[in-house]
Amino acid sequence: MTAADLRIEHLDDPLGIGSTEPRLSWRATTGQAAYEIEIRHGDGDIATSGRVDSTASHFQSWPSRPLASRETADIRVRLWEADGVGPTAWSEPLRVEAGLLASTDWTADWVSPSTAASHDGARPAYLLRATYDVVGEVRLARIYATAHGVFDLEMNGCRVGDDVLAPGWSSYRHRLRYRTRDVTSVLRPGRNAVGVWLADGWYRGRLGFNGGLWDNYGTDVAALVQVEVEDDLGRRTVPLTWSWAPSPITATGLYEGESHDARLDIAHWSEPDFDDAAWIPASILPPQAATGALESPTGPPVRVVDVLTPTEIVTRPDGRILIDFGQNIAGKIRLGVAGCDGTPIEIHHAEVLENGELATRPLRSAASVDVYTPRGDEPSTWTPRFTLHGFRYAEVRGLPAGGTLLSAEGLVVHSDMTRAGWFSTSDPLLDRFHQNVVWSMRDNFVDLPTDCPQRDERLGWSGDIQVFAPVATYLYDSAGVLQNWLRDLASEQAEFGSVMNFHPWIECGFPGDPAAAWGDAAVIVPWELYRSTGDVGILRDQFESMRAWVEQVHALTGQTGHWSTGFQLGDWLDPAAPPDRPGDSRTDPRLVATAYHAKSARLAAEAAHLIGQPDAAADLGRMAERAVAAFREHYVSPAGLVVSDTVTALSVAIIFDLLRDDAQRRAAGARLAELVREGDHRIQTGFVGTPLVCDALATTGHADTAYHLLLQTETPSWLFPVTMGATTVWERWDSLLPDGSVNPGEMTSFNHYALGAVADFLHRVVGGLQLVEPGWSRVRVAPQPGGGLESASTAHLSPFGLIGVQWRRADGRLVVEVDVPPGVTAEIVLPSPQAAPIEVGEGVHRFACAYRPADADPPRPRRWNIHNPEERRQMIEAGVL
Ligand code: BGC
Repeated sequence: MTAADLRIEHLDDPLGIGSTEPRLSWRATTGQAAYEIEIRHGDGDIATSGRVDSTASHFQSWPSRPLASRETADIRVRLWEADGVGPTAWSEPLRVEAGLLASTDWTADWVSPSTAASHDGARPAYLLRATYDVVGEVRLARIYATAHGVFDLEMNGCRVGDDVLAPGWSSYRHRLRYRTRDVTSVLRPGRNAVGVWLADGWYRGRLGFNGGLWDNYGTDVAALVQVEVEDDLGRRTVPLTWSWAPSPITATGLYEGESHDARLDIAHWSEPDFDDAAWIPASILPPQAATGALESPTGPPVRVVDVLTPTEIVTRPDGRILIDFGQNIAGKIRLGVAGCDGTPIEIHHAEVLENGELATRPLRSAASVDVYTPRGDEPSTWTPRFTLHGFRYAEVRGLPAGGTLLSAEGLVVHSDMTRAGWFSTSDPLLDRFHQNVVWSMRDNFVDLPTDCPQRDERLGWSGDIQVFAPVATYLYDSAGVLQNWLRDLASEQAEFGSVMNFHPWIECGFPGDPAAAWGDAAVIVPWELYRSTGDVGILRDQFESMRAWVEQVHALTGQTGHWSTGFQLGDWLDPAAPPDRPGDSRTDPRLVATAYHAKSARLAAEAAHLIGQPDAAADLGRMAERAVAAFREHYVSPAGLVVSDTVTALSVAIIFDLLRDDAQRRAAGARLAELVREGDHRIQTGFVGTPLVCDALATTGHADTAYHLLLQTETPSWLFPVTMGATTVWERWDSLLPDGSVNPGEMTSFNHYALGAVADFLHRVVGGLQLVEPGWSRVRVAPQPGGGLESASTAHLSPFGLIGVQWRRADGRLVVEVDVPPGVTAEIVLPSPQAAPIEVGEGVHRFACAYRPADADPPRPRRWNIHNPEERRQMIEAGVL
């Protein structure tokens, strides 16, 4: 037995951490009864926790003095087993190093090559360079760096780090993240050089819809680079004097695309001996121009995480080359060409084809065109540096006669999170749907959770991640990315006095008014993170934000609990809403708003209780009671019918536990199943109802109806896009219409994860793996087979290790196999009335029970036409009349 996989906070990279007393986690390879943590500080000080009798192995407190800026420490853990065996050998040490923790640690200047620029189009990128000398042997070298804009670093001609679009997008007015890099091995004796590629990015480039806005955070682009070395003169920050030059990137924007003229490439520009006499001195920004607190990242950087090769390349008669990567991605293309003569080559991008041509209308004003001008005819490979596209297809235009496309690759770009969740079944369509959900998550986790990766939007819409959070935390270790986003949400909520509908917020014409389901992200996302990680610290950090949202809504209800006034997005994108009015849902938005208020108030009350704030828990609990009472008073009939009488209204009432008793639940469930059948088992829900409807059916005894809805292939349904060849989840049920044309609605993305939120049902109910205790220490394995599926499996990489469930039907029996890691208890609930629940611990377990598939859910009930004599005759025959 050992303690393995030591980790601090939610970080994979322990270099440059931002906390002085980071919490520690590990995985015990067999049952743990006690532990000891040892901290060996860089200066030789040693502290230990002593033996702590506890089975807890996650987020344990730092048992030593706080770390100072730049300080290193080696952490080791040893364990004792339940029967007193131990201690084990010490774990492998984990070396952590603190970043720059105080603003006074930053002594470098903000330097800028461009303190303002006109915005009649995408602006160029810049190069900045500086040299410095080291004396004698270099024992250590670090770069701490960030930018107004996006940047790449070089040192002595080598790229430093492999992150893309650093420092990412945060609410820069409040927080700006910096990177810490170890460059010890890159330094040379004597003279060294550091270089920066710098462009607008989210800081100064065009952002937002309705034309968007330029200069959202400032008019400058600038870099903050502090190089610290330890050489014969000791540890010190080296003085840097910066100069700049135009780069070969003549224009670059996140929406616009990038133009690179390789004839302007500057060889060796980041090397020490380069002659920079013609370069221009960089401006030094006044200290007050620096925005927001400098913070170390809470999650992984954005990287190129995958490289796709084309599934098809077609050269058209007019010379255009259409490349299909077979998968809709967020990323960029890498091209290899030869035989070119210095004419610009254009690369256009699109998610789908319409009539064989790139369908670019859904991109709205995001042109997404890259232009590469090779230097000459020698072979060269190029990829844009500071732009990103949402695309499956790319079209190369303008390759000159005699030019050759040597290679084309699709570089997949997103936050480099660890994969944590898997699911598959015997149904290939359902499996492809699940893969589409995974892809839409990947494509929309480029540093922050966004709505879509392709059009002039790509914003951190709060409603989208609110509904998707349970899936996001299951599929990937997304805690670090979401924690970062929640900090922005809380900072801007404090600034504006409300949770905005997307964060970071930009004023591009969308109402900032509070809206249910969107603003509720302030409560529900931290809650989901707590559930999936067991980290109460996230609730502690976010609590003021959670409480402020609930109190704000309580005030908006006039203390009645009934949220009946103001702006709402409601059950956004109900398929019955006209293409140009996506908010016109069948379900009363006030019902949705009141239901969400009840849900959030309850969760915030529970959070208050968990973090030891009983008074706040009591206050919030009262608000919750009022909201539940208001919901019942206004929307629920005594018999359990729900006003609006829609699939969403009933699902919300059932899943948010807003009904009075079992009788009402049964009645609501029965009516829900009836509505779903009457709707021909097609989707009748938008953002709010879609994640809930299958669960609402299954928990009220209508799993067969849920399966029928789940496996529907006619539009609107989850599987219709799959039958149309989708490789990601679409924004609209019919983003592509059955005839293959693109939906005329203004909002028609092919890569929105929100409607993929049903994957949570796939993991928990179809696969059967349900979290019981936050952090996965206790799970319930309760698959509910159905829909004719022969088998299903799901697995989650929990903080304790991989938990797996798989079931298959064989000869009238159901066989269930469960893989339980140490530290996890699983309750097994087989789908048979005879099978009593069983509790198991670590190991691989196999169970079986008699199983007969439920009768298939009846099809849509016949609707009779009473005016038709023939139908009247049939009605008499059928006993209806
Ligand atoms: C986004 C959605 C978002 C919605 C709310 C859209 O433009 O793409 O996903 O939640 O607006 O208004």
